[in-house]
Amino acid sequence: MRTIAFVTQKGGSGKSTLATSLAVAAMQAGERVYMLDMDPQRSLMNWAEMRGEEEPSVQAVTAGRLASTLAAIEESGFTLAIIDTPGVDGPAAIAAMRLADLNIIPARPNAFDLWASETTRKLLRQHRADYVFVLNQCPPAQQSARVQQGAEALEALGGLITPLILTRVDFQEAARAGVGVTEWHPSGAAAEEMRAMWSSIKRRLARRAQKAPMRKAA
Ligand SMILES: Nc1ncnc2c1ncn2[C@@H]1O[C@H](COP(=O)(O)OP(=O)(O)OP(=O)(O)O)[C@@H](O)[C@H]1O
Ligand SMILES: [Mg+2]
Repeated sequence: MRTIAFVTQKGGSGKSTLATSLAVAAMQAGERVYMLDMDPQRSLMNWAEMRGEEEPSVQAVTAGRLASTLAAIEESGFTLAIIDTPGVDGPAAIAAMRLADLNIIPARPNAFDLWASETTRKLLRQHRADYVFVLNQCPPAQQSARVQQGAEALEALGGLITPLILTRVDFQEAARAGVGVTEWHPSGAAAEEMRAMWSSIKRRLARRAQKAPMRKAA
């Protein structure tokens, strides 16, 4: 099983939105997905309640129980765990960072998100955790110079996964309906972005597995 965590103390950057739509895209690509909600705001739990489906499985978990919960999930045959964390660099985020094979930092293409990611990055480095950025809520093409600068800055800070995710109503409507964008509007651009994002993450996880053995949930 591979584990990915959405982390960053910057609130509103898109952790929960991307976690839910990515989970559905990965599920449609054949993964058995289990989602763990570590945020007291319970975004994933609310989404799952609205969804009313068995898959993906969603459960709330505390920092102290994360390792044993991941071990149990793996034992049950799930192939992918996706962790959503609160927008603070506290015990939940740290536990997720330490146990995830890959941490994803969503950032909007503005200076505030980039500055705010600095403390999260410091923690990730301290815990020797692997991480990548994803640029989210990008404005449409006419403002692409700013997005381009954001992308270059993030690449310099440690790696950026493709594609850039644009601001699209599909993300908001899908979340409200308890579905992923690939279910809400399968032929839409947001759905295409999520399928491409899952492909990038999968490639990245595979590359990582070649370099280092799987991190054990212990
Ligand atoms: N690509 C996108 N297009 C349009 N709206 C988006 C996109 N990504 C996120 N949003 C919107 O931005 C807001 C914040 O997103 P979200 O709740 O996922 O952020 P978060 O990082 O989980 O925040 P918190 O730290 O508070 O948990 C939501 O209203 C969501 O609908
Ligand atoms: Mg959230």
